Amino acid sequence: MYRVKIITVFPDSFPGTLNTGVVGKALKNKIWSLKTINPRKFAKGNYKKVDDTTAGGGPGMLLKADVIGKSIDACYKNIKSNENYPLVYLSPRGIPLKQSKVINLSKMKGINILCGRYEGIDQRLLDFYPIEEVSIGDYVLAGGEIASQVLVESIVRLLPGTLGDIESTTSETFSQDLLEYPQYTRPKKWKNIAIPEVLLSGNHENINKWRLKQSEILTQKVRPDLWKNYKKSKTSKK
Ligand code: ADE
Repeated sequence: MYRVKIITVFPDSFPGTLNTGVVGKALKNKIWSLKTINPRKFAKGNYKKVDDTTAGGGPGMLLKADVIGKSIDACYKNIKSNENYPLVYLSPRGIPLKQSKVINLSKMKGINILCGRYEGIDQRLLDFYPIEEVSIGDYVLAGGEIASQVLVESIVRLLPGTLGDIESTTSETFSQDLLEYPQYTRPKKWKNIAIPEVLLSGNHENINKWRLKQSEILTQKVRPDLWKNYKKSKTSKK
């Protein structure tokens, strides 16, 4: 069972969308488990403060090192080898998430995720713990809760037993630097638009050729960065 622990000041955000579809089914089937840790549990005083103003001044509040540190320690309490459970902090300052990273994370025994809120976290946490700072894109969310659901969903769908058809993850977008080709289903004609003839031909060689061509055209058009990688790896394989 792949164990997910999430440190969040908004535990009500979970399981959220992670309770639906194939990922929700995998949760019920114990392919993975989910536990939230609320830092407030470790906060002191009447107000149970988890955040404070920034040293040196400036706007916003930071999650406190002492409270978050205790939450991280709680995640690793009954774990023998920390290496099997990477610690990820979701933040817009992090390394952009890629499918290759998702694949690596899916091969671990689990993951511990820290969701940011407010203006961020005390730097000493990042210096003290082996934290990987990960971003899900070049935009700013109000906190890491939704980002963590994005990350967990991308991992869980790769776990053995989550998807019925193994093939469906090997040909998909990003597994070879190509975006997925267009797909069609019945009805054969919709708003007077027909399904491309070749797909109804039954000729699998032609269908595969057509699909590859479409993937290439689409990738070149919308993702020149991926297209460059694809062309590079294609020439090095020759
Ligand atoms: N928290 C706020 N914005 C984020 C982003 N873009 N990625 C990950 N975590 C975030």
